[in-house]
Order: sequence, then C-alpha cells, then structure tokens
Amino acid sequence: MCGIVGYVGPKQAYGYLIEGLFRLEYRGYDSAGIALQNGNQIGIRKKTGRVSQLAEICKQDPIKGSTGIGHTRWATHGEPSDVNSHPHTGGNGEVVLVHNGVIENYSILRDRLRELGYVFHTATDTEVAAHLVAHQLKESLKQGADPGDQQTYVRAVESTIKQIKGTYGLAVLFRDVPGLLIATRLGSPLVVGIGRGEYFLASDASPLVGNTEEIVYLNDHETAVITANSFVLRRQDGTEPTMSIRALEQTTQDTDLGEYEHYMLKEIFEQPQTIENALRGRMDDDEATAKFGGLNLDPQTLRRIDRIVLTACGTSWHAGLVGEYLIEEFARIPVEVEYASELRYRNPPMSDRTMIFAITQSGETADTLAAMRECKRKGHPTLAICNTVGSTIAREADGGIYLHAGPEIGVASTKAFTSQVTVLTLLALLLGRMRHLSHPEGKRIISQLRAMPEKIRQTLKCFDKVKEVARKYYTAENFLYLGRLYNFPVALEGALKLKEISYIHAEGYPAAEMKHGPIALVDENTPSVFVAPRCEIYPKVMSNLEEVKARKGPVIAIACDGDDKIAHLADDVIFVPDVDEHLQPLVTSIPLQLLAYQIAILRGCNVDRPRNLAKSVTVE
Ligand code: F6R
Repeated sequence: MCGIVGYVGPKQAYGYLIEGLFRLEYRGYDSAGIALQNGNQIGIRKKTGRVSQLAEICKQDPIKGSTGIGHTRWATHGEPSDVNSHPHTGGNGEVVLVHNGVIENYSILRDRLRELGYVFHTATDTEVAAHLVAHQLKESLKQGADPGDQQTYVRAVESTIKQIKGTYGLAVLFRDVPGLLIATRLGSPLVVGIGRGEYFLASDASPLVGNTEEIVYLNDHETAVITANSFVLRRQDGTEPTMSIRALEQTTQDTDLGEYEHYMLKEIFEQPQTIENALRGRMDDDEATAKFGGLNLDPQTLRRIDRIVLTACGTSWHAGLVGEYLIEEFARIPVEVEYASELRYRNPPMSDRTMIFAITQSGETADTLAAMRECKRKGHPTLAICNTVGSTIAREADGGIYLHAGPEIGVASTKAFTSQVTVLTLLALLLGRMRHLSHPEGKRIISQLRAMPEKIRQTLKCFDKVKEVARKYYTAENFLYLGRLYNFPVALEGALKLKEISYIHAEGYPAAEMKHGPIALVDENTPSVFVAPRCEIYPKVMSNLEEVKARKGPVIAIACDGDDKIAHLADDVIFVPDVDEHLQPLVTSIPLQLLAYQIAILRGCNVDRPRNLAKSVTVE
C-alpha cells in the first residue's frame, strides 16, 4: 500500500520517478506526487487521482532536479486530497519526505510538535514524521552539529524513527543538502537499485526493471544513505550490516500488457503457463511424489509434523482452504487455515511439531508477515508459499516454495490463486507419500497435474459463454456463490472476485449451508452461481440447486462438459473439462474469474484499479 520511488544520480530524476510511479500504481491510486531537488530548493508537484494526472500537471508546470522522490498513495489517515498527498514538508520546508505505512502514535507526536510551534497543514500521520525530522535536525544544529556533515542528517532521521510507533518506509530529502537521499524501513518494503553513478529506490523491484540489474533489499530497522557516488546501509545501533546484492530477475516483458486490455485478463489467460511454471521440476515420477528445492527441512522433520497451520489473507486464504482439504485427504495431517490478521494476536496452542506456512502473492502483506513472525518467535518451522522473489516474507521464512507465476499486477488476484493451489497440491502429495498415500495414487495425481495446463487452456475457451452470461446478469445487485467440498473455497473466491472489481454484493457459502439462512436472499433478481462439477456428492448439490430454482432464483452453473442433467435445471451453464475431484478448483475458479471480469467491464468499472483497494496490503 502506497508506492515509493527515489533517484540520485547525474540525470534528471523525473523520468524514472514518473515511470516508476506508473509501475507502482497498483499499490495505491488515491493520489500521486513527486519532489525534485534543484540546488538548494525542492520543487513539489502532487495531485489527487492517478499518476497520469500528476504527469499532466508536471507537463504543464515542470520541475527539475537530479535527486528526487515520488509517491503513489493508498489513503489511511486523511481523505484523498491534494493537500494530503505526499510528499510532505517538515519545518519550514527544509525536510521533504514520502511515507508508506502507519504512524500509530501520530496524534501524541503531533500534539507535542504543535506545542513546539510546528504548524500542521494536512490530516495525515506522515506530516508528523516530516516535522519530527526537521525538529531533530534543528535541535542538533543548535547543539553544534555540523551542517556540512551528512551524519547530522542521518542522525535526524534515526532519532525520528526511534520515536515512531507503527510501520514505515520513508524516503527523505533535505533542502540544504543537494544530492542526499535517506531511506529507512520498518514493516514497509524498500529496495535500492544500483546503477553506474546513480541509485534508484522503490517499494518493489518493478520500477527498477530496465534501469539496473543489481538490487539490495532493505531489512527492517535498516537505513540507506544514498548519494550519486555512495550507498551505505546502517542499522539503528549505528553498525553497518553486510550488504547482500542480488540480481534483478524480472524483465520488462513480465510487466507489459501485450495484446490484452487489462492486466487482470492477461493474468487469467496466463494460467496454463503459470501452472506449468509452478509444476516444473517438482514432480518425481519414480517415487510418485513431489520435490521442492527450498523447504530446508529434512525428511525426518517433515515426517514428525503432526499439525499444519496455513495462514494468509484474502484470496491466498481461500487457496489455503483448498490446501487444508488436500493435505488432510492425502497426508491425514490436521490442518488449520488461519486469517493472518487473527493469528497474529491469537495464541492458539501449537505443539513443537506444528509447521506453519504463510501463503502470499506479494510476500509483503503486513498481517501475514506479523503472523509468520509470531509463529517463528515461538520456534515453529515457518515456511512461505510466495510469488514475489526477494519479498520480506520470502526472505524471513525458514524456507519455502516460490510460485514462479511472474508479477501479478491486476489488483484482483487470479493467477496467483491457481499457482498457490497447484503448489499446495504438490505439498499435499509430498506429505501424503511420506505417510499413507500409495505409489499408484501418487502416480495418478502426478499424471492429472501434468495434464492441468492443457485442461486450463480448454477451460479458457468458455470466455464467449461467460460474456453471454455476464450480459444477462450484470445489472443484478446481489449474487450467491455456492459450492461443496473442494468447490466451497472456489465459491468464496468467486464471490470475492465479483465484489472487489464490480462492487456487487456477493456471498460465498457451502451449498448446503444455504438453507440455514442465506436462502432468504433468493428471489428472481438474485442469481446463484453453483460450482457443481461432478463429484462424490454431486446429487446433493443438485438438491441444493433445485431448492434455489423452487424459489424462482436464477441459477448459473459451472459444470463438467457433457453434464446434460444440470443443463436442464440451470438457467445458464458454463462448462469446464472433467478433472479429478481434488484438482477441480484449478478449473472451476477460471470461469468465475472471467465472469467477475466481464461483469465489471459491462458495469464500467476499472478492473485493474478497483476503488478503495491496493494490491499489496502493507498496513494493518
Ligand atoms: C483479492 C486479493 C487480496 C489478496 C490479499 C493477500 O483479489 O488480491 O485478497 O489475496 O490481500 O495478499 P497476498 O497474497 O499478497 O498476501
């Protein structure tokens, strides 16, 4: 949430900053702003709305400078407005900064600073940080600190962050020190790109693509002191940590829209490939099991595990639910799926044989990170199922499994979900084969998995039918999504996709649970989407479907190819290929992604940038 960029070097910073903000816009799009240092003055442009609006005002009223910072905002404190947009200034303009995170003790700090004479112009928590840096600087200069010494400015930032409670990624410029950029983090990601005689700062690696090939991720409590010819990392205690320089693996192609109108659609159609990527090199035909390079756990430890906790948020939590069913079925290990936001403050009893998996696309979700750290602190093996290489969760986990799905830019998660489910299926297979699952059963699962990219390709052909269905129902204001067993999490995920991008109220339920309450919502204007491929309890799902029809509720069914029975009962059917029951979520989730997409398009919604949302939720 909120994206930060920064540049120090010989070139004009504007180009990198604005392009970087475009690439980071998925992190928040309430407003955007930049600050550029030109000699001993800092020019600021900021504007409510999208980065394109900022670019427009910069075109009309340009600013210059070869050191600069930029920000794209997802509002937490203070409504989206020009004045609340970042960058913010401190003191009399001698400090300018951008912030990602939440300063929890901002009102105490603001009162204290007001008493000292600082005037606040915004409703943000961030302005407190700007004034505080200015105040610390003023105090130390008063006490004789050298205004020509870089350390004076570093110390002003360091003593500020000592007083802040909450989370921050901060990038700070000083009016009187041209060419100095200080960045620091706690809980909000920052990465520095190393160029030739220039440095780039960003919230994630995407703005760095095409600008540099070497990057350094900042860890919590680290501060980067950057000038055009030096980059030093410091810890809060004044020590200098070893800098771990990594190669940037992303390419510009990964982030191009290509032939697609929206990232969401592109990412939906990438799924045959992303599932193949998640499977590549991870199936062992001889042993009929799965293998992972990065779990960092020996087979004895894996065999000793008597309980698994999967923790995540949102769509990743839904993938975890599928994982629960799979692991319990294949490996007979009890699994709990915990909302990370709850787990971080709960204290459920967990034996020392409990293994934790944090499931996350971004690897930066604040709640998931905090839940993972809490479990780690208690000594559990804590692993990550993560898409973003080098993200905080990926780096802090004891081990893990990457999704290899490539950057997911559409705010609504699609390909990450199916990759998470694929990886969880492999994990269930691995754990199952260490316990109860037979060799033939393992072989069968592997051959089904291997066929999956092709099955997904076939499934995507349903898009024309989905468009027809969307045209019929896009004006509805309520939807029910119903499914059972492996398709219950799919129903939850389908409902989430619809509400987040088309703003239609949608509820997901286990189909049979409907008669315990939600059936009261059924009427001729409320479509029910039944996720009803052939399965063990297919006849029972049919009964639930009949119950909805008996109350005049329109029914859209997601069913297996050739299911004539459901075609007679439902108002509309979207067919998907018949696959093993355990793998059905991989195909049944796809028409629901497409349906949400198409309905949002017909309602004129911005599918890639839905209102109020941001891709990476780095605040609590
Ligand atoms: C929904 C969506 C969110 C994320 C959630 C967790 O489409 O994208 O619900 O799934 O914010 O994000 P990650 O997986 O990055 O931890």
